[in-house]
Amino acid sequence: MPYIAAIDQGTTSTRCMIFDHAGGIVASAQREHAQIYPQPGWVEHRPAEIWERTQQVVRGALAQGGLQASDIAAVGITNQRETTLVWERATGRPIHNAIVWQDTRTDQICNDLAQTDGQDRFRAQTGLPLATYFAGPKLAWILEHVPGARAAAEAGDLLFGTVDTFLTWWLTGGPQGGVHVTDVTNASRTLLMNLATLDWDAEILAALRIPPALLPAIRSSSEVYALAVGDLAGVPVAGILGDQQAALVGQTCFAAGEAKNTYGTGCFMLLNTGPQIIASQHGLITTVGYKLGSQPAVYALEGSIAIAGALVQWLRDNLGIIKSASEIETLANEVADTGGIYIVPAFSGLFAPYWRSDARGVIVGLTRYVTKAHLARAVLEATAYQTREVLDAMRADSGMALRSLKVDGGMVFNQTLMQFQADILGVPVVRPKVAETTALGAAYAAGLAVGYWPNSAALCAHWGVDQTWTPQLDEPTRTGLYQGWKKAVTRTFDWTP
Ligand code: G3P
Repeated sequence: MPYIAAIDQGTTSTRCMIFDHAGGIVASAQREHAQIYPQPGWVEHRPAEIWERTQQVVRGALAQGGLQASDIAAVGITNQRETTLVWERATGRPIHNAIVWQDTRTDQICNDLAQTDGQDRFRAQTGLPLATYFAGPKLAWILEHVPGARAAAEAGDLLFGTVDTFLTWWLTGGPQGGVHVTDVTNASRTLLMNLATLDWDAEILAALRIPPALLPAIRSSSEVYALAVGDLAGVPVAGILGDQQAALVGQTCFAAGEAKNTYGTGCFMLLNTGPQIIASQHGLITTVGYKLGSQPAVYALEGSIAIAGALVQWLRDNLGIIKSASEIETLANEVADTGGIYIVPAFSGLFAPYWRSDARGVIVGLTRYVTKAHLARAVLEATAYQTREVLDAMRADSGMALRSLKVDGGMVFNQTLMQFQADILGVPVVRPKVAETTALGAAYAAGLAVGYWPNSAALCAHWGVDQTWTPQLDEPTRTGLYQGWKKAVTRTFDWTP
């Protein structure tokens, strides 16, 4: 069987891509789903729509390639991380909409938990600060607010999952025998898993009042979990990776010291730290990078930025300044700079390296001079500045130099952004030939599990440079611009109207 399929269920859309043995794309299909904003700071997805879109893109990709399930050697799943679902074991009925990773409704739960020992109360075990971003507090919120949920959970009638778990359960039969599993990378985003034991942490479960009965089994990122039913009937579901970890694998960052940055809805830089769990002193988080079958887990430091491409979408959908995301580059290029403004998109508070849920977005430096072209430029630059902040933190935490940055994701085709990124970092930025590294990483995990590829070393041969941007800005200008950004960030803190 010549191909491997990957399902990439992201924040705004779902994709299925089919890859050949050389890591080339054979077919793909993509569908968007609705973003639901019930009140400021809340973001939800409809679980049924997520599953429906998944089935549609699987069918779409198979049809586009003229393929059948029997042509697929294995399927891998990669997903928006932390997004939290709870459904009935017997029927599959969700008891609440999916609470999306960007949602800040658990602010109070996190603050209450931090009353004992502060925001880093569970950092030693989980690598994470107490923040609204992670899944555990979202699950606690659902159990607290949906009538009858806690009793049903304790009775074993409910299942919790991040999106990988939800999709694997449905793909493998749902109420008729679906397997209830997650992988170590997704579990490491719940605030409930102990990084060292790779198991649920009993003390944290007790603190968050989470009944163990509704939790999935934690497995490696690359193994046969079960066979699919439906459109992919008989195909082994053999890889699960959170989307940012999948991009790390897709970029073949298999050696300690290798890093990648993915520019999607948010922006996420991961640095492979090998078998070492490095505790961040500079506002990064520690996470599982991947675990290939029975091999030891590989860990990573991560700089998570909540809003990157989402700011371009905001300019398009909320302000109507551009009609399509790609128009931003033309508009930004009408001007040479931002006219002195900075936009800090703290829409979900600020993630790395600040972890401030009290922060809210600002535009600073406005004068009569500023036009929508300056705004467009400031939107692009915001992503580059945020990336600089996490790269600085990574250098400080790891002591590693990071001489170039491998990039991927939708925004890396924006020449203006990528050049400014190299300028503001002061290191070259490198885009690989296959920029769809998230889906590719999930395909790699699945393919390795079934012997389609022999080992990770064989995958490195697929990686090749497509384009490199080298820094062109002089050091004083770079430093001056970055200092302005740092000052702008301080204006987002403690915002209460
Ligand atoms: O942690 C959230 C992240 O996994 C979302 O990724 O690509 O959907 O923005 P993306």
